[in-house]
Amino acid sequence: MSNRNTHIIGIIGSGRAKSNSRRLMETALKTIEERGCETTMIDVLDLRIYGCNGCNCCFATGTCAFHDDLAPIYDILDNADGIISAMPVYFYGVPGQMKIFIDRFQAIWARRYVLHQEPARIRPGGLISIAGSKGQKVFDGLIMSVKYFYNVQGINLVEPLLIRNWDGEPDEMPDDFIKQAKEYGEKFWDHLQIGG
Ligand SMILES: Cc1cc2nc3c(=O)[nH]c(=O)nc-3n(C[C@H](O)[C@H](O)[C@H](O)COP(=O)(O)O)c2cc1C
Repeated sequence: MSNRNTHIIGIIGSGRAKSNSRRLMETALKTIEERGCETTMIDVLDLRIYGCNGCNCCFATGTCAFHDDLAPIYDILDNADGIISAMPVYFYGVPGQMKIFIDRFQAIWARRYVLHQEPARIRPGGLISIAGSKGQKVFDGLIMSVKYFYNVQGINLVEPLLIRNWDGEPDEMPDDFIKQAKEYGEKFWDHLQIGG
């Protein structure tokens, strides 16, 4: 299979610009690029977006009433062959900036579950997450949010890469984390070959 037109979007959801999440994402995407795919990174910190205000306009239209930096991103994600999100755990959940981004996909939820417009195809979705603690359940809340952020778009969450016990700086990360991110890119590419 040729990957000439395969396009993967990486979404970075850390609250800080120079983040562990970004470094891990860059590593995974590089592996995917080396296999011939096109990649694009979206950092939620670069977006000026409103939080969903629950107006439910999207229940009638399937589109969000807000016209801000998120407006072009719905189509970008819709046209992607796969998505990977990378973010740290904040208070056992998704960081605030990323949660605002996710909540705005209520419009896509409405398309699927109110207007009964099924996604055109099923695609794979990856998740890379990092946490300061060693807690067994530290990723549980975050995984649920990302799983359903993907579900509304017809994206299947594949096995995530979860890294515990790291509060340090990205350029001091152990080599093993970088190795794991590289391998995650390889595994994600395998998912692309089977399309889900
Ligand atoms: C606001 C905030 C809340 C956090 N909450 C948690 C938490 O609930 N559990 C945990 O293990 N780590 C928590 N952390 C630590 C980060 O997940 C950790 O430092 C991570 O490596 C940061 O990744 P980043 O560089 O990609 O932002 C928190 C950090 C911040 C800034």
